[in-house]
Amino acid sequence: MYSRVNVTDRIYYLGVNDRRKELFENIWPLPYGVSYNSYLIDDDRTALVDTVEMGTGGDFVGWIKELLGERKLDYLIISHMEPDHSGEIENVVRANPGLKIVGNKKTFQILEAFFGITDNLVEVKDGDVLDLGHRKLTFVMTPWVHWPETMMTYVTEEGILFSGDAFGTFGALSGGVFDDEIDFSFFQGEMLRYYSNIVGKYSNMVQRAFAKLSALPVRTICPLHGPVWRTDPGKVLGLYDRWSKQEGEEGVVLVYASMYGNTARIADYVARGLADNGVKEVLVHDVSKTHMSFIIRDVWKYRGVILGGCTYNAEMFPLLESLTREFEHMSIKNKLLGLFGTYAWNGGCLRRLKEFAERIKWETVAEPVEIMGQPTEEKVKVCDPIFQGMAARLKS
Ligand code: FEO
Repeated sequence: MYSRVNVTDRIYYLGVNDRRKELFENIWPLPYGVSYNSYLIDDDRTALVDTVEMGTGGDFVGWIKELLGERKLDYLIISHMEPDHSGEIENVVRANPGLKIVGNKKTFQILEAFFGITDNLVEVKDGDVLDLGHRKLTFVMTPWVHWPETMMTYVTEEGILFSGDAFGTFGALSGGVFDDEIDFSFFQGEMLRYYSNIVGKYSNMVQRAFAKLSALPVRTICPLHGPVWRTDPGKVLGLYDRWSKQEGEEGVVLVYASMYGNTARIADYVARGLADNGVKEVLVHDVSKTHMSFIIRDVWKYRGVILGGCTYNAEMFPLLESLTREFEHMSIKNKLLGLFGTYAWNGGCLRRLKEFAERIKWETVAEPVEIMGQPTEEKVKVCDPIFQGMAARLKS
């Protein structure tokens, strides 16, 4: 029924793929699915590191029993209580009487709130060690990567880090489980989308986690989503370090909202102006066509952002407004910003865009501009300072 996948001798990968779910957290598209990873450590004492989303693991409990044979499961270590990982906890607890649950104080508050479980708890703090016999597990508190209870588990003897959501990615695993068995180019965009959509808001906490992890020689990273990094963990560590510093690359994401094509034509004019001024990486998105998940990913990647929107009921076009609110929710920083708005008889969009710019405190590269009606060759020239200013600032 399942494949037996060894991370090392007697540490098993128990991940499952979910290609059915359309939206992760019922908001983020999953065009390539997602994996939920769990791990089983079969030592003198046995430990399961996290479970999987309910209903995705088939006979998850039966598979654990199959792997352990006559031996019992002693511990369940909870890295993270979000239901994509805690979904099978009740089944695991029910099937393993006397099972001890390892977590921190916050873990247990959420555990009780979700499942009413209050017994057999082993509370751990930063640096505490659990001795399984041949292996010693050290717990590293990494709050807010991605919930307040999140923690990592480090196996000293083998340098294995069970990292929770950190270093994970969207995208189901197509046979390959380890980084040397996959085509990384498939995961690169999905990994940044996962980071920016799920973990990015807590980038300062990711940096704090890095400071703690720097003392540990990590040889293998076992995240809760995506591949296990056993050959080149430095690659994913480097990516997360860069992304969490919010240092965008030289390039621009231009997002527009257009009902009948006028604003879209201005967007293309501005994009052409960027290219003409030497900006090679320019991505143009129609906010009505591209899900914000992908736009947020691209905005995370690049330093420059240009927003252009039409007025709708004397306000910003709703989908663009929703996107700007999400930029704020996600605490996206260090961007260069250009703005333009359009209207037919009265304004509204640009006023709201300017209010957004004041709140988010990104550096504006030029005075925001507005165009009424048809964007004629003459009228669009008011946008020249936007692409000129953006190109100059990106290269300065
Ligand atoms: Fe994969 Fe925050 O859960």
